[in-house]
Amino acid sequence: MNIAFIGVGNVGAPLADRLQKLGHQVAIAARDSQSKSVKEALARNPALVVQSPIAAVSSADIVFLATPFNVVESALSNLNSALDGKVLVDCTNPVGANLTHGLESKISGSETIQQLVPNTLVVKAFTIYGFENFEDNTYPGYGDLKPAMLIAGSDRNAKDLVAELCRQLAWEPIDTGNLAMSLHLEHMTLLWINMARVQGRGAGFVWAMLQR
Ligand SMILES: NC(=O)c1ccc[n+]([C@@H]2O[C@H](COP(=O)([O-])OP(=O)(O)OC[C@H]3O[C@@H](n4cnc5c(N)ncnc54)[C@H](OP(=O)(O)O)[C@@H]3O)[C@@H](O)[C@H]2O)c1
Repeated sequence: MNIAFIGVGNVGAPLADRLQKLGHQVAIAARDSQSKSVKEALARNPALVVQSPIAAVSSADIVFLATPFNVVESALSNLNSALDGKVLVDCTNPVGANLTHGLESKISGSETIQQLVPNTLVVKAFTIYGFENFEDNTYPGYGDLKPAMLIAGSDRNAKDLVAELCRQLAWEPIDTGNLAMSLHLEHMTLLWINMARVQGRGAGFVWAMLQR
């Protein structure tokens, strides 16, 4: 699959690296090919291709958005037609002061992104944990139980595609419903950050799903 990354910092770089090593063609949609994050992503994995945002997105089947939430509008500007009909994996989180929801819990960040790119199939995924778990999500000793990746989106085929990438990355994808469910995922993120980074539990934990 051809995959483009808008944003290759803490979150984008390990995902890009691992997806490339799984055999995907992975391009960095770089506004500045010399930026620190691009150089570090390339140092981690020289097989990543660096392209202009429009070139990377135009040739991608699926695009990951992994920038700070407050820059998504500028990151997506001028890409609208290139993104039409494509799957956009929203890895961003709107985080406000004192670990509150950045949009005052009135609407999810993913839905506001969907409004920016109405012809794109937005799926929220790869958000509910710290980046450490995107680098390494192995949790030995739990048998067949895999760490859960909760996803949300309103298009079935787009979600199936993202779920397949989750599986390839050794996550158990869990479909939480349509894109409006992203608001709850964004609150889960705040919970994880609070537990891991504020209360001091550390980054080495994830959720799993037991069902009967
Ligand atoms: N950190 C975590 O543990 C974590 C976990 C889950 C989700 N998230 C969410 O994931 C997103 C990324 O977080 P991060 O920690 O990876 O951030 P980061 O390390 O600061 O990386 C941000 C990336 O976005 C790029 N960028 C910044 N402004 C841009 C713009 N206007 N247009 C295009 N690209 C731009 C940066 O490129 P340059 O180097 O060129 O500036 C960099 O590659 C955030 O929304 C965050 O809430 C973070």
